Amino acid sequence: MYQTEEVNIVLSDRINALAESQTIAMAKKGRELAAQGFDVINLSFGEPDFQTPQYIKDAAKKAIDDGFTFYTPVPGYPELRQAIVDKFKRDNNLDYKPENIVVSTGAKQSIANVVMCLVNPGDEVIIFSPYWVSYEEVVKLSEGVSVPIMGTLENDFKVTAEQLEQAITSNTKLVMFSSPCNPTGSVFDAAELEAIARVLEKHPQVYIMADEIYEYINFGAKHASIASFDFIKDRVITVNGFSKGYAMTGWRVGYIAAHKEIATACDKIQSQMTSGTCSIAQKAAYAALQGGKSAAEEMSAVYLRRRDLVLDLMKDIPGFATNVPNGAFYLFPDVSYYFGKSVDGKEIKDSFDLSMYLLTDAHVALVSGDAFGAPQCIRFSYATSDEKLVEAMERIKKSLAKLQ
Ligand SMILES: Cc1ncc(COP(=O)(O)O)c(C=O)c1O
Repeated sequence: MYQTEEVNIVLSDRINALAESQTIAMAKKGRELAAQGFDVINLSFGEPDFQTPQYIKDAAKKAIDDGFTFYTPVPGYPELRQAIVDKFKRDNNLDYKPENIVVSTGAKQSIANVVMCLVNPGDEVIIFSPYWVSYEEVVKLSEGVSVPIMGTLENDFKVTAEQLEQAITSNTKLVMFSSPCNPTGSVFDAAELEAIARVLEKHPQVYIMADEIYEYINFGAKHASIASFDFIKDRVITVNGFSKGYAMTGWRVGYIAAHKEIATACDKIQSQMTSGTCSIAQKAAYAALQGGKSAAEEMSAVYLRRRDLVLDLMKDIPGFATNVPNGAFYLFPDVSYYFGKSVDGKEIKDSFDLSMYLLTDAHVALVSGDAFGAPQCIRFSYATSDEKLVEAMERIKKSLAKLQ
């Protein structure tokens, strides 16, 4: 018989150093409580609550019927790479060729590819903080050294060019950020990106990974890309994908646009790790781009309405200090007002305690800010129905009122 108790499994230092994705962990806990019969409202998810648009689903069905069941070229089908080139021209006025594009199994893989291809052990990677959970972990996997620099709430959580200038050393290899940002929803405008680009111009050993996966969920001015500054373009890797804008999280299609040598390196690492992403999902992604941005714009209008709804409800909750996010579908209030308060003899020491309390008392799942490098904050995803948002905010308000 297979005796699991007697087996001493020795895992690598690499995996032991890695943290479990907190967003996924929180979602798991929420599901466990729901399985026990509690009515849990899950605001911890980082994904649209919308179904993928029908025309994209239809393209996937057709791909199956047309026999697209074989391995795909590692960097993606040529027509999908060309469609991505066309998208960069249409949306961002950026000129690329298919050789600059690598399609991957989600933007997550794109990011991992880039970091693995650029970062040597000991290299410093500057991460604009608050940051998306996986950035720091993928740097760890590459044995790089994360250097988070924190944007302040007063500056809409955005890191400034001056802060960046101070953080760059001769060991800096890469700078990573998302705009629109997960978790803060803040969006860099063209002037802010230009100031950052001017700093990077002075440091030719530094590469820049701009994660633009929330590009289509932007409530403000036209989306700006740091790759549009020619003087650093060769060093910019733009990451994007289909998960958020086209509500295609489960399909797993992301991509990069980068200098040919970086793209070739990503192709090489991907050829050993996963090969080309799913044939059917690629056909669906191609159809998504052919359909333009209208489905994304419709969803974005709904997110904007929900943002305003939750911001309005948040005004009734004492001690939540928040920015007004211009993109993505998150709110990221500073909740430190509640630290040191107690309920039933139990003290809330940090945002993790607060998120656990709100999960067990209000049955609302959120993600504590330490997962994003901001332990004073908590992340709300408002990618859910108005009814659930109203109910969740009501429950949160009641639970917080019990804290003394
Ligand atoms: C900022 C950011 N980048 C990348 C990703 C990964 O996206 P994908 O589903 O395409 O792997 C996410 C997903 O939550 C994200 O929030």
